[in-house]
Amino acid sequence: QRPDALPQDLAGRRVLITAGGTREPLDPVRYLGNRSSGKQGFALALVAAARGAAVTLVAANTSLPTPPAVDVVPVGDARELQAAVQFHLPGSDVVVMAAAVADFRPVDVRGDKIKKTPGTTPDPIALTTNPDILAGLVRDRAGARNPVIVGFAAETGDADGTVLEHGRAKLARKGCDLLVVNPVDAGRAFGTEDNEAVLLGADGSAVEVALTGKHALAARIWDAVTPLLP
Ligand code: CTP
Ligand code: CA
Repeated sequence: QRPDALPQDLAGRRVLITAGGTREPLDPVRYLGNRSSGKQGFALALVAAARGAAVTLVAANTSLPTPPAVDVVPVGDARELQAAVQFHLPGSDVVVMAAAVADFRPVDVRGDKIKKTPGTTPDPIALTTNPDILAGLVRDRAGARNPVIVGFAAETGDADGTVLEHGRAKLARKGCDLLVVNPVDAGRAFGTEDNEAVLLGADGSAVEVALTGKHALAARIWDAVTPLLP
């Protein structure tokens, strides 16, 4: 589809999107990271720009081409991502937290590379909790501009509940307007070209999007966001 054939329903809107996965440094050469490629967040940015939005894309450790007309802000760890979000937040109509933010980071970042000493066992790595950026956005949004806030959740079903039950509980806990729930059982979603999701609205709505390309899913997500815009 040619970009100019898309609806311009995001014209005049500013959107802030995070993508990729944070890396929490351990020493000068090592980090704790995750498998997020950033493809879904980049697809959201590309589609939003094609639908007329001014897009800032905070990209954590991605190696994807910059989408046309998108302002990319590269970041490394969770606290850098948080600082970039806070800096670019003012004036945003929508914030989409598609990035996989590490929940924990090593307490100490060693200045020198950790060495292995033959015959000894390595020290355990002490972790501390990272700020929850999405929760902070929801908490602070009583201001003059009140952006629509979209979260993502990669979930697996387990003894405590199905993917959808976990998604509903997370939406309630996070307090965002829309939660994009991805099932991530073995091999699904991370780094793949396709994605499937359920879009859970704070109003109780649920839109199922069957396995499709990440750009098609991005379009469905924007379709769910535009009615929430004032
Ligand atoms: N998120 C965030 N800051 C964090 C962790 C997560 O902003 N420190 C955001 C993610 O970008 C995503 C949403 O919160 O949009 C949900 O992330 P997820 O990891 O599924 O939720 P958590 O609350 O971290 O719960 P879990 O224990 O399932 O990891
Ligand atoms: Ca998490």
